[in-house]
Amino acid sequence: MFVPVEKSEDKQTNYERLLDTLPHYVDQEEPWYTVLANASAILEYFLDDVNWVGFYRMEKDGLYLGPFQGVAACTKILIGHGVCGQAAEEKETFLVDDVEAFPGHITCDASSKSEIVVPLMVRGELFGLLDIDSPKKARFDEIDRKYLEKVAAVLVDNLN
Ligand code: SME
Repeated sequence: MFVPVEKSEDKQTNYERLLDTLPHYVDQEEPWYTVLANASAILEYFLDDVNWVGFYRMEKDGLYLGPFQGVAACTKILIGHGVCGQAAEEKETFLVDDVEAFPGHITCDASSKSEIVVPLMVRGELFGLLDIDSPKKARFDEIDRKYLEKVAAVLVDNLN
């Protein structure tokens, strides 16, 4: 059961609380989809102004939709396509201030205006991606990048 942690007005404080909370809800003995299911709920709880939070899992022929919070989304994204496919190709975090200005952006939720995608690297291999969308333009900044990469690091230690 999730015990609600008090939320702050301050983004960085919320990220610190998220990072304190997350390890209690992930267990490396459990399957990856179980770990990422609870992670998506915890991210959704602590982040303001987001309309979609979830994961894509790398498979042989592309990225497949994993656990998420939000509206039903694209089930398969090819490497090199969209923000996710490009982040998968580069194996780097992508911050997109305005999704409409991003060449090849794939619309899953029409209310999304900005997006951040963080790769999950397990033993040097791309396991999948964390993808977060916001209904506000330029919602994600370097603070988000720093903390979401820390979240990714906690997750990859618990994925199998
Ligand atoms: N916008 C993403 C697709 C995934 S949805 O946002 C959930 C992209 O361009 O790759």
